[in-house]
Amino acid sequence: MKNPEIEKRIKDLLGRMTLEEKAGQLHQAGGSIVGAFDLSFEEILTMVADGRMTEEEAHKMISTAKRDWHEDDLRAGRIGSYLGLVGSEEMNRMQHIAVEETRLGIPLINGFDVIHGFRTIAPIPLAESCAWEPDLWQRTARMAAEEATAAGIQMTFSPMVDVSKDPRWGRIAESAGEDALLNGLYGEAKVRGYQTDDLTRHDALAACVKHFAAYGAAEGGRDYNRVDMSPQRFEEEYLPSYERAVKAGARAVMPAFNDLNGVPCSVNKKLLTDILRGRWGFDGMTISDANAIAECINHGIAADRREAACLALNAGMDMDMTSGCFLDHVKELVEAGEISMEKLDEAVSDILRLKFELGLFDDPYRSDAEQEKAAMLTPAHLALAREAAQKSMVLLKNDGLLPLKEGARIGLAGALASDGDEMSGTWAGAVQPGDCRSIRDGLDEEKISYAMVTEEPLPDCDVFLCAIGERKAESGEAASRASLELTDADIALLKRLKESGKPVAAVVFAGRPLCLGPAAEYADAILMAWHPGTEAGPAILDLLFGRVNPSAKLTASFPAATGQCPTLYYDHIRTGRPAGKFKYTSKYLDAPVEPLFPFGFGLSYTGYRYSDITAAQTEGGIHAEITVQNTGDRPGSEIVQCYFRDPAARRVRPVRKLAAFEKADLQPGESKRIAFDIPETALGYYDQDMNFVIDDGLIEIHIGGNARDTLQADVRFIREK
Ligand code: BGC
Repeated sequence: MKNPEIEKRIKDLLGRMTLEEKAGQLHQAGGSIVGAFDLSFEEILTMVADGRMTEEEAHKMISTAKRDWHEDDLRAGRIGSYLGLVGSEEMNRMQHIAVEETRLGIPLINGFDVIHGFRTIAPIPLAESCAWEPDLWQRTARMAAEEATAAGIQMTFSPMVDVSKDPRWGRIAESAGEDALLNGLYGEAKVRGYQTDDLTRHDALAACVKHFAAYGAAEGGRDYNRVDMSPQRFEEEYLPSYERAVKAGARAVMPAFNDLNGVPCSVNKKLLTDILRGRWGFDGMTISDANAIAECINHGIAADRREAACLALNAGMDMDMTSGCFLDHVKELVEAGEISMEKLDEAVSDILRLKFELGLFDDPYRSDAEQEKAAMLTPAHLALAREAAQKSMVLLKNDGLLPLKEGARIGLAGALASDGDEMSGTWAGAVQPGDCRSIRDGLDEEKISYAMVTEEPLPDCDVFLCAIGERKAESGEAASRASLELTDADIALLKRLKESGKPVAAVVFAGRPLCLGPAAEYADAILMAWHPGTEAGPAILDLLFGRVNPSAKLTASFPAATGQCPTLYYDHIRTGRPAGKFKYTSKYLDAPVEPLFPFGFGLSYTGYRYSDITAAQTEGGIHAEITVQNTGDRPGSEIVQCYFRDPAARRVRPVRKLAAFEKADLQPGESKRIAFDIPETALGYYDQDMNFVIDDGLIEIHIGGNARDTLQADVRFIREK
């Protein structure tokens, strides 16, 4: 619902803006570093590529270099927004120029990738999704917003709600995994946490839902690659998560780099205008991905930057992230009649609207150095980061080794066990060296004695803790992998420890599901720790020593072999020849069809028994119930999952689909009746002619502790005509 007062002020400003000033509002500038040191940016990239410089060295050089924020352009009204300006003092200085030295005094909006924390880092999104806890997702977003806004940032390029069914894609780390419902709920909670219900608060951060749409379906899991899919699949599996996050009130949306059925999302009118604004009523701001408008030339869809600008703006793009195409060409395009003044005014209005909503016109200076310092790494934030890490790590195997006994003598193996800086994971741009604590840091702080595993001989100890997996640069953007196998070095280390005869607990760090077969073979216990953030070490020890009972469950299937991708995901479509013993069925000759660890899977130190499932039709859908009992001797939280399956539909449907879930806290011996209400629209799908239909007939309800082990109840579902 637009605010009439704001609309009046927008109209007034539009009436006073020149064409150049309007084009300037559409431009988001990055801080140029070229010229800030002796080498050009391209030269640095080449040196990293040919091995003359490590990625770390390059990162340090770039992140500590002085930035040129193009002050003269800002003064001339040629910049509407910055990307990545971090620090309240620097931001205030730039805001002063915008507000006091430009002709119309329009304030800047400053955007940054605050993806899973700012200084205090929560687990990567894929990890945090394994908590299946919207309230936690919202609280960590609030924490991130408090820190980021104190550092002069007003908009985050988060949440990413790209359903990711292929773990070869490195950006699965930034998603809530392979399910549409989970991504939608994750996005909704993040939007609420960042923005609050009052955008004018100094600690409210505008959310930007990305990457619209279906970026996670890049063919072959290769980043930036094409996405080609049926409209039915798009509507059923990919679109709903964006819709939910947008409808939660996100004030910005970022189109994806990829093309969708041949049309790059940056110039995709169907997405940016018809669906986003037409169908969903979005009246916020769209902002391209970095340089994505200019990249339409590489896509082979625009002949030059001028045409790229024309296509993007006419499709519904408001702001150009760093390519400069809008800044350079919008004026001439309007003068030539290729972009209407009305269209340009719509784009400018969307940007001004967000600036007004945030209160930037009336109150442009939001923080100072003192507030900034006080906001970071507070005890409350560290406690929350620790809670989030405890709730995100998935116990995948435990042959009775865990929890470790207090006093157990530990042998610590693997480089990642001692490297705190690797714990932040991908997209943690504001984190400082030493912020995050490793397992070794945790052991030191708790004064638990341990021996490091280096060369032969192995230390004499009771148990080995062995850290394996990926470093942070191995997942995230531009970090796709063709193989998900553990490295030879990791496998050799596990094997060597196993051969000692002592028990081994593997702690796996990674930004994606990996093929953990060798770990399952050589380790007695496996804790999937992901990249757990600032409090990695302490949280891992809390779980290993049983001070906290593991409760997380996977939101993405773990492959037995890389070649299972991309058909690995739990809600895959049924075939006419489901995998079986008979040769002519849908399977591989050299790998299983089933994942090694299924979606929804995760162990704890107690056990749960499921019984007495019931399901019945209600007025608006299906009501289902099940009894869950804690059969062990310690309290636990069980994530109870409710799936459904439509056994005879008009189009082939998934083998099962998540409909709802609940996290149940259960004392030893306690039983609870868990109830789910599935709205009938959740049962619907698109028929061959793209009509949304809900079938009459049998619906199977499956409830359990993971997607593979469930109890079943059937409902004959008949809608009143
Ligand atoms: C990424 C976006 C990100 C942007 C700004 C791009 O390369 O795809 O997710 O928000 O950079 O840093």
